[in-house]
Amino acid sequence: MIRSFSTCFSLRLPCRSITRLFIPAVLALLCLCGCTGQKTPPVFTIGFSQCVESDAWRKTMLENMKRELAFHPNINFIYRQAEGDSRKQVSQVKELLQKKIDLLIISPNEADPLTPVVEEAFSKGIPVIVVDRKISSPLYTAYVGGDNYEIGKMAGQYAVNALKGKGKIIEVTGLPKSSPAIERHKGFSDAIKNYPGLQLIHMVNGEWLNQTAKSEFAKIASQYPDVQLVFAHNDMMAHGIYEVYKNSKQPQPAIIGVDGLPNAGMLFVSDKKITATMLYPTGGEEAIRIAVKILNKQHVVKENLLQTTVIDSTNVRIMQLQAAKTLSQQQQIERQQTMLAEQKRIYNNQRTFVYILVTSLVLSIILGGLAFYSLRENRKISTQLQQQNQEILDHQAQLVAMSAKAKAANEAKVNFFTNISHEFRTPLTLILGPLEELLANSRNNYSTGQTLTLIQKNVLRLLRLMNQLMDFRKIEVDKMRLKASENDLITFVADIIQSYKSIAQKRSIDLRLITKERQLPVWIDVNMMDKVIFNLLSNAFKFTKDNGYIHIYISRADNNAIIKIEDNGVGMSADAIAHAFDVFYQGEYENYKGSGLGLALSKELITLHKGTIRVTSEKWKGTSFEIRLPLGTAHLAAGEIVEEQAETKQAVLYEHEKIYTADLTTETAVSQATEETSIEKEYSILIIEDNADLRQFLVGKLSTQYEILQADNGQSALQQAFDNIPDLIICDVVIPGKDGMALTSIFKNDFRTSHIPIVLLTAKTAMEQQIEGMKNLADTYITKPFNITFLQQTIKSLLSNRARLKEHFTGELPTNLKTQTIGKSDRKFINEFSAFVESNLSNEELTVDTICKQMGISRVQLYRKVKALLDINVNDYILNTRLQKAKYLLKNETFAIGEVASKTGFSSSAYFSSVFKTKVGMTPKEFREK
Ligand code: FRU
Repeated sequence: MIRSFSTCFSLRLPCRSITRLFIPAVLALLCLCGCTGQKTPPVFTIGFSQCVESDAWRKTMLENMKRELAFHPNINFIYRQAEGDSRKQVSQVKELLQKKIDLLIISPNEADPLTPVVEEAFSKGIPVIVVDRKISSPLYTAYVGGDNYEIGKMAGQYAVNALKGKGKIIEVTGLPKSSPAIERHKGFSDAIKNYPGLQLIHMVNGEWLNQTAKSEFAKIASQYPDVQLVFAHNDMMAHGIYEVYKNSKQPQPAIIGVDGLPNAGMLFVSDKKITATMLYPTGGEEAIRIAVKILNKQHVVKENLLQTTVIDSTNVRIMQLQAAKTLSQQQQIERQQTMLAEQKRIYNNQRTFVYILVTSLVLSIILGGLAFYSLRENRKISTQLQQQNQEILDHQAQLVAMSAKAKAANEAKVNFFTNISHEFRTPLTLILGPLEELLANSRNNYSTGQTLTLIQKNVLRLLRLMNQLMDFRKIEVDKMRLKASENDLITFVADIIQSYKSIAQKRSIDLRLITKERQLPVWIDVNMMDKVIFNLLSNAFKFTKDNGYIHIYISRADNNAIIKIEDNGVGMSADAIAHAFDVFYQGEYENYKGSGLGLALSKELITLHKGTIRVTSEKWKGTSFEIRLPLGTAHLAAGEIVEEQAETKQAVLYEHEKIYTADLTTETAVSQATEETSIEKEYSILIIEDNADLRQFLVGKLSTQYEILQADNGQSALQQAFDNIPDLIICDVVIPGKDGMALTSIFKNDFRTSHIPIVLLTAKTAMEQQIEGMKNLADTYITKPFNITFLQQTIKSLLSNRARLKEHFTGELPTNLKTQTIGKSDRKFINEFSAFVESNLSNEELTVDTICKQMGISRVQLYRKVKALLDINVNDYILNTRLQKAKYLLKNETFAIGEVASKTGFSSSAYFSSVFKTKVGMTPKEFREK
């Protein structure tokens, strides 16, 4: 409810804070209201066990009790009556005790049978009030009732007076085991015993009941015709006696009864049915009053005997009047009690109403306050929001202005770029013309021809890039318009493929056009579409190895022409596939960079044709590009359709052929030429570089001095290196198959190649890469673009350092160790042999067998080969090498003699010194000090 209040008032205060304020307020209010009420008394339960209820006296007792209870609304009253059955009364009392009553009132049917259960209640601490009849034990809290002995005595005295001390008497008793019957008899007997003229001639047990008394008395009445007085223990039995005499001819004796109820005993006396009655009060009101006192822990008297008196013809009238008055007073009280209850009810209703009224008022004040607070907060926040809004608008305006500026700047940059590109075209064309003339000159020697071809290839490459950039710009500014004419796609693609035939042949690449169609007419802009096909084919050639295949499939499906260009080249990584058509994406290999622009442009051109292009590729397995072009003209706008212009088409085709295929052509020719002109050189160099142009350039520059080995991927690099054991390796960092770092690490960790100086070559200048290169033990690191002379100098100094070091080790070896006259495979053997010995010098157990095992030859072969090539015994070679290294260490390092001995594989410094002295003519110490 509290939440819904807050919602409907749409307060800005959070519901929680309202609840925080609201609930305590309401609770405080209700508490206040609660406190104004009177203290409510504790609730008590009284159990009342009545022996019988059929007669008027018992009914009067219950009424009296209820009348008194009306003053005590906090008391629950449980009533049980036993119909004059003692056993039944016992079980009823037990039931009351189980109900956890706070107090027991009991009028026991008979004394002995009820005594144990009353004692049980009393011993459990439950107060017990015995009324009218008694029990045979003192274990009860209070007794309320008339003095039955006194009543019997009063009746006896009345008999004495009525019979003037002489006459015969019959006594009709109540239940003989009930205390009133016993006591009344005793009192009566005591009163008449002093009068010998009075004779109690018979006793009848009337069991307190009218009917029993009547029938029992009737049985004996005729036997006692001279009886003068009958004393019945209660008025009901007395009335029964009266009835016996009324119906017989016998004269009625005087009849005395007990109880004196207005509507019974008193009426019988005034109607002269009986002579007198002894007033016996019920004690109902007194019993409740005493019970209340006990429950409120007030002191009570144990024996509470009620007043009694004789009622006969002399006072019955006045007694009746008095009783009537009492009755009317009691009725008056009851009426007032009813009115009081009504007043109380009205008062309670009004009080509740006032509570609600006051609560509502307080709530209204609280909610009003909250509403006011919320309104104020809302105003504050709305002002803040307005301010923030204004700030945002200002920022927006600034951003718009800034972006306009940025756009203009970008526009200017792009325009500049486009213009520059355009400017480049002219000088490039001017370079190309004279270049072609120079190339046509038959007097060129081979080297000049190669250089000119290289220049031409790169000029054409630049030209292609410029064209692509300008095409892009045109598409970007929406100036590239489709001029589609109807062309046979088969012929169109076959013509382009023709341009690649000779390259394919040279590189043994299986280039094929595969189609079921004889003709496939498509509406294409040939100037655009041949750029796409040229570009895709050039890419395929670039990334396909010699002996690979490039297959072009043309088919028709779903009103589309499909061109698929498939190769088994190096393939693309997932990342490269994802960005294949992005303009600025740089592939993982440096030399792939050019393809990014070409593919992006191809995609734009295909899109202009309302076609699609997609790529599927797997690393090291191959790549497939698929183009789909809609057939017919329905997809083209009217302005996009033109008549075919054959001449233009041919010219364009020629130009594109040159531009796209020029850089794919020369590499085989160059390597063949290298083979032809190669002569035995002192040192061999392995060039590991996947960019064919750069590789050829290096070959051209180094092949005059060195024997050159080449590799364009990791696998062939490893093979070349281990097959030939070159004297130096130049390695690109980024190559397919295995990168340069991994190769360097392999070479430097294999004894066969660990001695080879390695030059790492890359365009990546990042310092971390250089550090990594050095970590992998590369000897030097040269970044592209590099100066060829610097590279040549570096190679020279690395080789001469190596030679000098070797000189130190083998200085005393025979002169024919020099390698000038040794053949390629022998040099490989010597390199491998000496490298193994050098890298195992510290091993004392380096033996001929170890070497044989390592090199895969027999002992005889090893001895012969070493003797033949170096003219020395293998063991002498090992010993000499050990001593050479020892000399080097003694002269150039600060190791102790012992350390030098162990580094050069001598088991002890003494043995080292003695061998050294024998061979060198002085001790190691003397040698060092010399
Ligand atoms: C009623 C009554 C009275 C009598 C009393 C004795 O049941 O018989 O008439 O005075 O019980 O217990």
